[in-house]
Amino acid sequence: MKDILAELNERRNDARLGGGQKRIDAQHARGKLTARERIELLLDEGSFEEFDMFVSHRCTDFGMENNKPAGDGVITGWGTINGRQVYVFSQDFTVLGGSVSDTHAMKICKIMDMAIQNGAPVIGLNDSGGARIQEGVDALAGYAEIFQRNIMASGVIPQISVIMGPCAGGAVYSPAMTDFIFMVKDTSYMFVTGPDVVKTVTNEVVTAEELGGASTHTKKSSVADGAFENDVEALAEVRRLVDFLPLNNREKPPVRPFFDEPGRIETSLDTLIPENPNQPYDMKELIHKVADEGDFYEIQQDFAGNIITGFMRLEGQTVGVVANQPMVLAGCLDIDSSRKAARFVRFCDCFEIPILTLVDVPGFLPGTSQEYGGVIKHGAKLLFAYGEATVPKVTVITRKAYGGAYDVMASKHLRGDFNYAWPTAEIAVMGAKGATEIIHRADLGEADKIAAHAKDYEDRFANPFVAAERGFIDEVIQPKSTRRRVARAFASLRNKKLENPWKKHDNIPL
Ligand code: HXC
Repeated sequence: MKDILAELNERRNDARLGGGQKRIDAQHARGKLTARERIELLLDEGSFEEFDMFVSHRCTDFGMENNKPAGDGVITGWGTINGRQVYVFSQDFTVLGGSVSDTHAMKICKIMDMAIQNGAPVIGLNDSGGARIQEGVDALAGYAEIFQRNIMASGVIPQISVIMGPCAGGAVYSPAMTDFIFMVKDTSYMFVTGPDVVKTVTNEVVTAEELGGASTHTKKSSVADGAFENDVEALAEVRRLVDFLPLNNREKPPVRPFFDEPGRIETSLDTLIPENPNQPYDMKELIHKVADEGDFYEIQQDFAGNIITGFMRLEGQTVGVVANQPMVLAGCLDIDSSRKAARFVRFCDCFEIPILTLVDVPGFLPGTSQEYGGVIKHGAKLLFAYGEATVPKVTVITRKAYGGAYDVMASKHLRGDFNYAWPTAEIAVMGAKGATEIIHRADLGEADKIAAHAKDYEDRFANPFVAAERGFIDEVIQPKSTRRRVARAFASLRNKKLENPWKKHDNIPL
């Protein structure tokens, strides 16, 4: 018996060493943690239960039969984050470059199947040279098996990807289908074709970092949702995110203890809106003042800053926030902001997370680049996402809500449950100047007349009361009591039940 136990220990120790001390040192020298160190940081201490530690590949080509490391380059299992179950896989770059073989893929598939069956999120820590070259089509088949599971898991359990090393070629499509992608600055990259192929085909000279580093994907492409300084920070932030999310689509998000008075009055909000309607203010100030303990977890912070998306808690319950940001492009809707917010709204709706929408929107951004880029279809994504969402929806219009953008931003007409406006709200087809120039075109040469018409228009429409008279605004509220009003609104909606007509699935304008 002792011998068997000794052998088990020996095998375990061997498996735990991955590709050996030299490769571990090389991993550390690059500022990267090992696959096991990452799991330890991600999960609650001592909570990790491993599967398939001794699985090895079955490839016999290119001398691979003599190189069969235990675990086959990926560590899989489950554990807890603040006591709540998650499944995890962590690719081990020290073992054959973390490359994906048939068996490596099957290990990942096994935990994905369990996660779907048992209703817990999957977190993938990616650090891989891609398909195992020695395996050919077997490796490709393995990837496709993972892809299929990503698709089946979508909307059933949250899926989170952290890119912590290379992720190239078709391999990028697994993270791409997950709900959130985080990247580590300077040590991770994602691209479909690398710098060498790019140079050959398009003659562009570009580094891996420029082509697919964290900065590129969080600022330009919006493929990634967040970029962090190092492995430790990235993993800590994943833990923070998981705390906001339900484990699956049948459960509500967790309710945390809160130490912030739901009725807290914020008198400073009464002067948040500047006297001059063209002057910006920081919508994040309102978000922080409404949230429990001022805590806000922002998603896609560095992309399309004209809209803000992220999570807060109200009375301890997770709420998704979508807010126009007047500080960037006057808070207008455009292609990028519509896409960003639409995906976020759909995530919230999949996972029963109520949505708070804060509106100050002058309309859609005009221009050929917007029209040629398909702003019609992209704007429709956000409209569609809000309209199909059945979760509780509370909207507060702080200032402008003009034109189609008024309709889009979770208006009453898209089944908003509570639609509040501050007294400073202006709900109209457009701003007074534009409106006057159209409906009083005959007077365009006469400045006095135009000014008088504009004043008339402002008096009539630059307020929330016309909409309130029609019931499109449920109540005009005092800015200082926004937290209390919004928290009470969501509290009244805790048992909301709304179902869309049966369909196989919708056809959102992609
Ligand atoms: C087998 C691989 C491998 C792979 C790396 N290794 N990638 N083994 N298949 N795909 C091995 C290396 O041989 C090496 O083994 C060890 O991992 C570390 O790799 P290095 O090259 O020494 O590391 P580094 O210099 O950091 O470079 C990392 C890298 C490079 C940039 C990822 O290894 C690389 O370019 N690999 C090939 C990438 C690739 O073309 N993959 C296929 C992509 S297409 P030793 O024993 O020497 O330490 C793809 C399609 C997926 O993935 C399709 C899905 C539909």
